[in-house]
Order: sequence, then structure tokens, then C-alpha cells
Amino acid sequence: PKLSTGELKALVRTVPDFPEPGIQFRDITTLIGHSEGLSASVHHLAEIARAKGAQKIAGMEARGFIFGAAVAVQLGIGFVLVRKPGKLPVSTIGVDYALEYGTDRLEVDPGSITGGESIIIVDDLIATGGTALATAQLLRQAGGTVEDALFVIDLPDLGGAAKLQQAGVAVQTLMQFEGE
Ligand code: PRP
Ligand code: MG
Repeated sequence: PKLSTGELKALVRTVPDFPEPGIQFRDITTLIGHSEGLSASVHHLAEIARAKGAQKIAGMEARGFIFGAAVAVQLGIGFVLVRKPGKLPVSTIGVDYALEYGTDRLEVDPGSITGGESIIIVDDLIATGGTALATAQLLRQAGGTVEDALFVIDLPDLGGAAKLQQAGVAVQTLMQFEGE
């Protein structure tokens, strides 16, 4: 039997004061290092993506590649690389997005998307939602249909899931860390 999402939550390590004092870092190292932890995480995400009829999975560099590519393999569908700047060898489209301090940028090869296909976003964690919102904008700009995003971990106190819903992207997560 697959580990439950409650059992998966117990495999996430919390590291206090990283990367800054006062931040509780939710670390997937221990989850993905556990054989059944990794496979059950992928299984639960893939079942949601399957039910939604995903035609392609998009994952964001770096941690989104781990779960996103595994989900795509499980469903027998293709994977879209959403990369940090300067990594893709062909002409790309990009979106700049705000971080707490400064800005960041994500890029995609528009040739990796066929017009109108249903793409589901997969990442390890949603915090402010900035990364996922930029990804949804980028995939839509490239012609994809983006209605769903899946994450292993939600930090609802940071409001990311609400921000995505407002942009027409439904969010589902395997676990939440809230007020703890
Ligand atoms: C982390 C995490 C998510 C993002 C969530 O990635 O993996 O992608 O932050 O934060 P947000 O909802 O506030 O945008 P990060 O950019 O730290 O790097 P990594 O995936 O390359 O480790
Ligand atoms: Mg990331």
C-alpha cells in the first residue's frame, strides 16, 4: 500500500532559521530520499493529474523537475522544462517576476508546447505563488491551456494558492504547513 499524504508529511524535514532567521524551511530531502516517500508522492500527484486529463506536465527548475518529470513518466505524457534564465539553447520566451528581495526570471521554449494542449504545472512547494504564477503566464503565452497546478507542499500563510486561483489556476496540494 502507498504511504498516505499524512505519512508523507511526516517525512518532510523542518529546518529552523533557513535561509534566514525566523524561517522554517520545509525540506524535501528526507521525503525524496525515502523510497516509498518519493514513489507515493509521485503516485498521489499523478492520480490527480490523470483525473484532470493532463496532456503535458510542466515543471520548474530545479525542484519541480524531480516531481514533474516523474509524474509525466507515470502518465506516459511529455514534460515541459521551465528554466531559470540563459539555460535554453533556442529562442525562448520569458517572464520576470518579483521576489521578496529583487526579481527572478523563468524561460520556456515555445516549441515545447502545442497550441491548446492541457498542461498541468507540478512543483514541490507553493509559498507566495510567484514562481507558479509566472509559469502559468509563460505557458499560456506559449499557447498552452493551464487550469491546474499541483504541489507536494502548500504554505497557505503565504497566500500563493489564493493568488493562483484568482488567475484561473486551480491548486491542489498533498499537504499543508500552516501556523506551525
Ligand atoms: C522554491 C520552490 C518553489 C518556489 C516557491 O524554488 O521549489 O519553486 O520556491 O516559492 P514561491 O511560491 O514564493 O514562488 P527556488 O526558486 O527556491 O529554487 P529551486 O527549486 O531551484 O530549489
Ligand atoms: Mg523551485
